[in-house]
Amino acid sequence: MIAVDGPAGAGKSTVARRLASRLGGVRLDTGAIYRALALVAMERGVSLEDGAALGELAAGLDLRFAPVAGGDGGQRVLLGARDVTLDIRTPEVTLGASQVSQHAQVRASLLSLQRELGARGLVVAEGRDMGTVVFPGAVVKFYLTASDEVRARRRHEELLAAGKAQTFEEVLRDQRRRDEVDMRREESPLRQAPDAQVIDSTSLDIDQVVEHMAAVVRSALFEGNEMTEPVGSDSEQRSTSGDVCDLSGRKPEGEVRGDHDQQPEGGALARELRELEAELADREAALPAHSIRPHQLLEIEDLEERIADLKRRIGGQRGEG
Ligand code: DC
Repeated sequence: MIAVDGPAGAGKSTVARRLASRLGGVRLDTGAIYRALALVAMERGVSLEDGAALGELAAGLDLRFAPVAGGDGGQRVLLGARDVTLDIRTPEVTLGASQVSQHAQVRASLLSLQRELGARGLVVAEGRDMGTVVFPGAVVKFYLTASDEVRARRRHEELLAAGKAQTFEEVLRDQRRRDEVDMRREESPLRQAPDAQVIDSTSLDIDQVVEHMAAVVRSALFEGNEMTEPVGSDSEQRSTSGDVCDLSGRKPEGEVRGDHDQQPEGGALARELRELEAELADREAALPAHSIRPHQLLEIEDLEERIADLKRRIGGQRGEG
């Protein structure tokens, strides 16, 4: 789980989509869930002030994300069989989402849905409280921000491109109002998790931001920094061999340690190396041409890492001998 939080218009959606597709994972757009709830409430005449009624509505929300064919990480938002991808992006629903998201009953109701949607392999979840409340055990947490004006300009350009008539001043005013509500509400206000990496994208382009984030994630996953912390059940994956392993695909720490502690002899190391190389070849041959699962990539990277480690150890023994 990778958490991306931050205020509206900081570029979270684009960055989360690009990062997810780069890492072979999926993006979870939690803002879309609050938007969908606001849309349903407005259509059914449920007051946006009525926390109890909204909480009930949220508990029954039949929401799914469906990947758009083409593979650039785009998703459609489905409520039952109805596609609401565009309907949830109007200025009215945007303000409505901000209102519904203030209610404790709504946030509590949506917690399990978000965690369920987040338990699907490598997920980049974006929202306001991903790192603080919904996925506090995320492997990496980012807090993405940018100046008011830059955020409003980006949102204004998006709206213009979608044919929506709002002036820049209106977008800026609405955004400030939403920021105020998001940051000051009592329930799960927008704030940085203490262990989040802050990225100010005011003068960075999207490529620079994604590049930086991907480097941080890779180092956390494969150099094992944050992975020593328990990350909760959301991060547990089953490898194809049935072992329980963490997001990096590594075996539990004790088992890996055990291998190293025994200091096998040269012949045993060489045999282990051959076995790992054969396993890697099998895994690579079995990869589908499309839709490679994140855990498959992680397992392959883990095997490569173990092979490199064995080679170093074999080289070291030859040097000593
Ligand atoms: O990211 P967005 O603009 O699509 O979010 C819509 C609204 O939902 C926004 O006003 C804040 C709220 N939200 C929230 O309170 N918690 C989240 N995790 C995601 C969004």
